[in-house]
Amino acid sequence: MSMPATITGKEFFEMLRDDLAAIEREFGRDTVSGVGAITEIGEYLRGGGGKRIRPALLLLSSKLFDYRGRGAVRLGAVVEIIHTATLVHDDIIDEADTRRGRPAANTQWGNPKCVLAGDWLYMQGFKIAVQERNFRILDTLIDLTQQMVEGELLQMEKLGKLITLDEHFDLIFRKTACLFSVCMRMGAILGGATAEQEQSLAQYGLDLGIAFQIVDDVLDLTASETMLGKPVASDLREGKVTMAVIHALERCTPRERNRIETVVRERAFDGVTHAEVLEILNRYGSLEAANQRALQYATLARNAICSFPDSEIKRALLWAPEFVVAREK
Ligand code: IPE
Ligand code: IPE
Ligand code: MG
Ligand code: MG
Repeated sequence: MSMPATITGKEFFEMLRDDLAAIEREFGRDTVSGVGAITEIGEYLRGGGGKRIRPALLLLSSKLFDYRGRGAVRLGAVVEIIHTATLVHDDIIDEADTRRGRPAANTQWGNPKCVLAGDWLYMQGFKIAVQERNFRILDTLIDLTQQMVEGELLQMEKLGKLITLDEHFDLIFRKTACLFSVCMRMGAILGGATAEQEQSLAQYGLDLGIAFQIVDDVLDLTASETMLGKPVASDLREGKVTMAVIHALERCTPRERNRIETVVRERAFDGVTHAEVLEILNRYGSLEAANQRALQYATLARNAICSFPDSEIKRALLWAPEFVVAREK
């Protein structure tokens, strides 16, 4: 019997249901500390949900090689724990008050406790990863964490400035795409992939991660907080220039440039409203152009794995880019 060429989102999550549930249990066990506040913060963050896209990618990557060990569940929990730690720190840095549709942890426990909880989570992630007794995995995770921290720091230095597209790509690579790539790479390492296969999967993760952050940045401009579960129009308010804005800046009149510059410099929609910025972006088709970029990266991701033979797992990996670009939250 020939297999259907594509899978649906329902089939995607159905395929990973048991493993994702095991990762959820592992995450729950891993974030228990003798110090109550850490367990509470960990539990609060885990309970907030999230798409769990990173562990899903790691699982799929390992399954491509028919990996059946315990490592994928453990490392799946590790990448979600590291992701959680970055979110806790990111919300402190961005002074965000909402995350996953709930008050952000920093608004509940305050910044100092959340900084420490984030640090603890990073270390807990590494403690679990050490159980694999695999230096390549540890090396990969250390590089990743440094890239992500550097990304947040570089971003901070560029706040309020009209950055170039190249600078923007460097930031989104470090902040987001690197972790997606590492998820794919670690699945490949567990599965005993060849160097070439590992490279293809890492490339897939990188392209997918870039598409993911471009979409996140477009949603920040266009979505509602109810849908997104986190503050909207926050990037401009935080002085962050993202792809659609860069696109418009390259085309707009000096007066329009000045309007955008004012928001980014003042980090507020005081003199210039969010609606006015959206009008400028729409005038130059900039949101559409950013979405087109995301689609290009989604296609690059699919192409990166074209040499793998057809299988249910490969079809799930081919579906993920579609999900990333079409998502509404
Ligand atoms: C948010 O990631 C941080 C970014 C890289 C944009 P997600 O959108 O995956 O967040 P959750 O885990 O689903 O809440
Ligand atoms: C996310 O960047 C990058 C992280 C490593 C957390 P954002 O600042 O765009 O993430 P959100 O929009 O707050 O989720
Ligand atoms: Mg943020
Ligand atoms: Mg964002």
